[in-house]
Amino acid sequence: MTEIKGARVLVTGGQRGLGKALAAALLEAGAGTVYVTARRPEPETDPRLVPLALEVTDEASVARLAEQAPDVDIVVNNAGATIPNGLLRNDVADVAHLLDINVLGALRVTQAFAPVLARRGGGAVVNVHSVLSWASGAGAYGVSKAALWSLTNSLRHELADQGTQVVGVHLGYTDTDMVRALDVPKNDPRDVAAQVVEALLKGGNEVLADEVTRHFKAALSGPVEGLAVA
Ligand SMILES: NC(=O)c1ccc[n+]([C@@H]2O[C@H](COP(=O)([O-])OP(=O)(O)OC[C@H]3O[C@@H](n4cnc5c(N)ncnc54)[C@H](OP(=O)(O)O)[C@@H]3O)[C@@H](O)[C@H]2O)c1
Repeated sequence: MTEIKGARVLVTGGQRGLGKALAAALLEAGAGTVYVTARRPEPETDPRLVPLALEVTDEASVARLAEQAPDVDIVVNNAGATIPNGLLRNDVADVAHLLDINVLGALRVTQAFAPVLARRGGGAVVNVHSVLSWASGAGAYGVSKAALWSLTNSLRHELADQGTQVVGVHLGYTDTDMVRALDVPKNDPRDVAAQVVEALLKGGNEVLADEVTRHFKAALSGPVEGLAVA
């Protein structure tokens, strides 16, 4: 269980999309300060939101962030990107760059902030995965999210000794810029964010945000054909 009232929170990619909804939900739950990052941060009107620059693939940028936000209790690794499907057509360099953002970015931020969380009594790390970490057919994005899921599960063990709660978030299509062009049913990001807040308060390990996510988690115990989305 993680106390949110009065907490200082970092949300990577917190100025738009799901990250913005997470920041708002955490403030609503009583967080004192939410550091929200963007590659080019914009001013915020709410003084409780503190915009900071972050490029997750850049070690120096992560180190600067840790200096600027020295008092964090909850780290939300939300920043993420995608590239078009087609592992056989994708340039390997593009796949590697996506892994750098979606997987190693979360690792860099967690490594930088783990000592901070330990000093402040444990706190929490929240990593945003996807239903596509389990469902096949999503190409490089699925590869990155499956790796991130594994990273989260191992970090949970490594951070247990210092009392840090680790929450993995799985979700299907959610109404943000990332899937703006797709005409499909989408989650409301505010609904996903509310479930993350609930998991933090209740000490949960995992958020399965919607029906499609619960379906594919259950399908992991069946034949691999059941994991295909395309
Ligand atoms: N939307 C969906 O359907 C869906 C479904 C499952 C999982 N997710 C996951 O949810 C998370 C949030 O995505 P979203 O849907 O809100 O997408 P989004 O609107 O495209 O936002 C992506 C966020 O990630 C940040 N970001 C991207 N590359 C970055 C980099 N190299 N360094 C630092 N920050 C970077 C962006 O920051 P800037 O402002 O600097 O661009 C932005 O805030 C992602 O991890 C995504 O994979 C989304």
